Amino acid sequence: MCGIVGYTGKESVTDQLLNSLELLEYRGYDSAGIATLNGETGKAKLRKCAGRVKDLRKLCKKDKKVSTCGIGHTRWATHGGVSDTNAHPHRNGDVLLVHNGIVENYEELKDHFMLHKELKSQTDTEVVAAVLNRFYHGNPHEAIRETVKYLRGTFALVIMFSDQPDVIYAIRNVSPIVAAYNENGTMLASDVVALGSSAKKYMVVPEYVIMELHKTEIKLFHLDGKPCEAEYIDIDWDTTRSGKGSYPFYMEKEIMEQPDALKATMESRIVDGKIDLSADGVPDEVLKDCERICVVACGTAMHAGLVAQSLVQSKLKMHMSVEYASEFMYADPVIDDKTLVLAISQSGETIDTLEALKYARKQGAKSIAVINVKGSSIARESDYVMYTAAGPEIAVASTKAYTTQLITLFLLIGRMAKVRGLLDEAAEKGYLENLVQAPDKMQEVLDQRQDIHKIARQMLDAKDAFMIGRGLDYSILLEGALKLKEVSYIHTEAYASGELKHGTIALITENTPVVATVTQTKLKDKELSNIREVQSRGASVVLMVKDGFELADAEYADVFTLPAMADEFMVFPASAALQLLAYYVSMDKGLDVDKPRNLAKVVTVE
Ligand code: M6R
Repeated sequence: MCGIVGYTGKESVTDQLLNSLELLEYRGYDSAGIATLNGETGKAKLRKCAGRVKDLRKLCKKDKKVSTCGIGHTRWATHGGVSDTNAHPHRNGDVLLVHNGIVENYEELKDHFMLHKELKSQTDTEVVAAVLNRFYHGNPHEAIRETVKYLRGTFALVIMFSDQPDVIYAIRNVSPIVAAYNENGTMLASDVVALGSSAKKYMVVPEYVIMELHKTEIKLFHLDGKPCEAEYIDIDWDTTRSGKGSYPFYMEKEIMEQPDALKATMESRIVDGKIDLSADGVPDEVLKDCERICVVACGTAMHAGLVAQSLVQSKLKMHMSVEYASEFMYADPVIDDKTLVLAISQSGETIDTLEALKYARKQGAKSIAVINVKGSSIARESDYVMYTAAGPEIAVASTKAYTTQLITLFLLIGRMAKVRGLLDEAAEKGYLENLVQAPDKMQEVLDQRQDIHKIARQMLDAKDAFMIGRGLDYSILLEGALKLKEVSYIHTEAYASGELKHGTIALITENTPVVATVTQTKLKDKELSNIREVQSRGASVVLMVKDGFELADAEYADVFTLPAMADEFMVFPASAALQLLAYYVSMDKGLDVDKPRNLAKVVTVE
């Protein structure tokens, strides 16, 4: 959480920082700030405020002096409320600092260094700035080295020292920093999307290594002062794709990009009509030898795991547990060297997923990460990585990352079934024939988005809503409900419809909105009868039903027909419909679709 940036080079820094911060706002958007250092006058300038980057832009408008070196921050508040004072950067003496992460022992540090009188904010970050300044006597490396010895927790620290013109220093533990250069200068950010479109390569700054950004070069040093070799990765995302194009919101653009993203994710993994994971380097033995599978993930990524669970049980006849990563290690999970852990994450930086993965590996588990962001912490921590080809996902609400995670999991499970002798050639062919249709079936739904928009208009005044279904439909709806609640603020519960009458049906009254999906042949009749039960209590039911399923006469508020696929693949068209529903409700309510309140896209605090 929180986005950080830094630039030093030939160009005026203010606009560079503001533009990059805007691209990082998905990481937090309750306050923003920049600090610039003028190499000629030696003067540092601090501008910060509660609010968005656009508010900061207004604040910076009057600044006349041009600087070419600076750092910036967009905040998701953890320690200290949302206020101008708590906004970053923080200054103490010669030190100007922005920080992403949480320094857990900041109260202890206040006492240890007797800082109480000099602090203005309630943040952990200002404490770090003060400690850095205590240790700063003209030698940045020494100050950084001494300070990090005292820090407990996660941090990406980006520092300017007012008497070190044109140089930016950085160090990190867990929280990410990436860096790149072009002909005009060097830059760093929390995420590659903010590095500017002209950079061709970037590096992930290694943990506990001091980085120096100079105008024409980037240097890395181990804490003992020895130089450290940088490893650069090609930027193969078209960073211009990270703009909104002609769409009003990233969420709509990203929903619409799904058919292409699914195709790109499958492309290299289907060779001569067979699933081939050799490019991912996942050995067949790992897939063959494991006795159980365990998913660790959060939010949407965890919901992708739940869909995979049905598939694992039906195709692999194996036990698979799907755990909230945040709960995982506190529940004494049974993990051993026969366990295959799947860590699923768009950002690859979710701290709970990262910690759960580390824990599982310590117990001897093998691991495969399903990740969107290359070189991210979870990708580096895992034995093997399967990257999704979703491209940059900017909207806080995850859409294309989810469906590309699904398609990756379908491929992985298909390959597992093959190597375990549970899928013969003919069955593999049939499986893939279905899978490759997923992009087109999603496209069919996207092409009918105006029909879903009409349904959305009926839900604008709802305070509460339910989504009901059974089996795979229930897993699909858990994600559908998360989408609706996070972007529309309608309290939405996904419920296994057979469970309703054990308590929750008490909440169904006249006109309660209920969205039901009916996509599974073996459950269709039971699902339809559960729908009758809520209708009898006055619910207004929107039905999303697989094409070809017969419906007995019944009144629905609306019916949307989902293009038919084999049951286990229905998650693709159904998810597109549910994503669009959430999107249109939020948009028509006039909400900030891409940046729902209180949320951040990358959750790097536990
Ligand atoms: O980056 P990750 O996939 O690890 O993020 C996990 C969750 O925070 C994320 O899926 C979240 O639930 C979605 N953004 C909600 O749409």
